[in-house]
Amino acid sequence: MKTLLTVTLFCTIGFALADVASEFQSANITSDILKGHGPTDLIEVKYGNNVVNLGNELTPTQVKQIPEIHYKHEGGVLYTLVMTDPDVPTRGYNREFNHWLVGNIPEESVEKGEVLAEYVGSGPPQGSGLHRYVFLVYRQDQGAITFDERRLSTWDGKQRRRFSIQKFAEKYSLVGPLAGNYFTAKWDESVPDLHKHLGF
Ligand SMILES: *[C@@H]1O[C@H](CO)[C@@H](O)[C@H](O)[C@H]1NC(C)=O
Repeated sequence: MKTLLTVTLFCTIGFALADVASEFQSANITSDILKGHGPTDLIEVKYGNNVVNLGNELTPTQVKQIPEIHYKHEGGVLYTLVMTDPDVPTRGYNREFNHWLVGNIPEESVEKGEVLAEYVGSGPPQGSGLHRYVFLVYRQDQGAITFDERRLSTWDGKQRRRFSIQKFAEKYSLVGPLAGNYFTAKWDESVPDLHKHLGF
């Protein structure tokens, strides 16, 4: 049973393999925030029945809760996972907002990792168009990392601005991004509450 599950998951990921790098390139994510080195594997990201699929549009209401995450991983290896928005305040500024950052994840057990930024859903300002919400996974070849960042709570909105996943990855010599996925979202009526909570 377990083998069957693993095989099924692997096939799902393997099927999308060819698409990820080119999708990230044509969406300009690779050039905007990753210095030209994009992921090749897919991260499975599910918000209940809403599945993230390389650029599909979801609403801020649909992505309020932490999603379920799966990716191809090796036994005994630690990973770092991020969700970042490169379109803050609007597309073209190339400034990132740190939505979720978890390090020291054993294999793909995100809930057992070290939370560096608690999960916050999408909050694209009204009139700022479609934002890209990008998930990336990196491998920690050196094993456990002692991160020196202060843990960001859900209300630490201002401290999440001007993030750079590329700089973060370089600082800790993370390998990757190995896997990625992204969705897009624009403002809906749930956003003002989120902004209030974030301290804006
Ligand atoms: C990607 O960037 C190029 C050059 O700035 C631009 O012409 C193109 O419209 C962008 N594509 C997307 C999907 O944003």
